[in-house]
Amino acid sequence: MHIEQTRSPGGRFAHLDHDQLRRLVGMVEHDPAGDPFPVTGWDAVVWVVGNATQAAHFYRTAFGMELVAYSGPETGNRDHKAFVLQSGAVRFVLTGGVDPASPLLDRHRRHGDGIADIALEVPDVDRAVAHARATGATILDEPHDVADAHGTVRLAALAAYGDTWHTLVDRSRYRGPYLPGFVACTDARRPRLFQALDHVVGNVALGQMDRWVEFYNRVMGFTNMAEFIGDDIATEYSALMSKVVANGNHQVKFPLNEPALGKKRSQIDEYLQFHDGPGVQHLALATGDILGSVDAMRAAGVEFLDTPASYYTDPALRARIGEVRAPIEELASRGILVDRDEDGYLLQIFTRPLGDRPTVFFELIERHGSLGFGKGNFQALFEAIEREQERRGNF
Ligand SMILES: [Fe+2]
Repeated sequence: MHIEQTRSPGGRFAHLDHDQLRRLVGMVEHDPAGDPFPVTGWDAVVWVVGNATQAAHFYRTAFGMELVAYSGPETGNRDHKAFVLQSGAVRFVLTGGVDPASPLLDRHRRHGDGIADIALEVPDVDRAVAHARATGATILDEPHDVADAHGTVRLAALAAYGDTWHTLVDRSRYRGPYLPGFVACTDARRPRLFQALDHVVGNVALGQMDRWVEFYNRVMGFTNMAEFIGDDIATEYSALMSKVVANGNHQVKFPLNEPALGKKRSQIDEYLQFHDGPGVQHLALATGDILGSVDAMRAAGVEFLDTPASYYTDPALRARIGEVRAPIEELASRGILVDRDEDGYLLQIFTRPLGDRPTVFFELIERHGSLGFGKGNFQALFEAIEREQERRGNF
């Protein structure tokens, strides 16, 4: 790793125009004028992991992400290491405790590798926090400036489900590689296997889904999207209920799951047990070439859920999905799922949980007009997940 003090030119959106981003993640037109809590987009997904040094290696080699900034003992941060990785508009910050007294190690002891902070970019941190306070949110960090030679960032933080929080970031007056205290890094050029973050899914406890949907409605002005998974779909298989909230232009989408009572133990219950409470279940990464991304990631050792062969030969499914951009055999050989709605279709695939605990996993998604989340694939997906649960003896 080579650390340098200057930042290479070009922002993280330099290669992505608005129209490409809109198609990739299914954005809609939105007038921010009447929005009580405008959100410009995702800022970063901040992880706490057991070994950030090795996790950074994994996301660089297997996920094709580039190291862009670093903070750690070498830069004066005695508490922990933090690696900032980027792919297109997606930014991950991988943090791990160095000092045995680091609070990150306490968090890791409880939750294992996972996401602590879903940071959001807002145009006005103070206004957002004032609205959040007035609507009953817990303010973890009051608005404050942090500054270095590259400028000033204004930050605040709100509590979300479980031990998750949302840092609110206004970096309009900042030119550094990430945040004050981080130094820029120059990494090898890597294949860009995904370009944008599509959605971040939270698992909450039984009976808490509507409470958190209402939280995002009330505090952040997020609206409910059409997709709703009720126990009518869920009970026959791994039981869950799911609703989706989104910011005004649908760039930031939060599906929220809760377990439902089913015939067998729910995948959400397994998550809540091993994560020791609510938290982020999966991140969906938008790609323009899901076949190429899956091939590259699989070659690097990323394991995807198997899809039953019957999924592709089922005449009802074939009739439902119609014509898609790749031959069905190409999708079948990779286990890529298809879903279609009135707006178009999407291709998607899910990884196995990436850490030691059966908690966080990833989705790759390639949208072709569809604004959904693959509701039609829940049944096929649940069957595949349950086979995995069975192998772990947690079913
Ligand atoms: Fe998803």
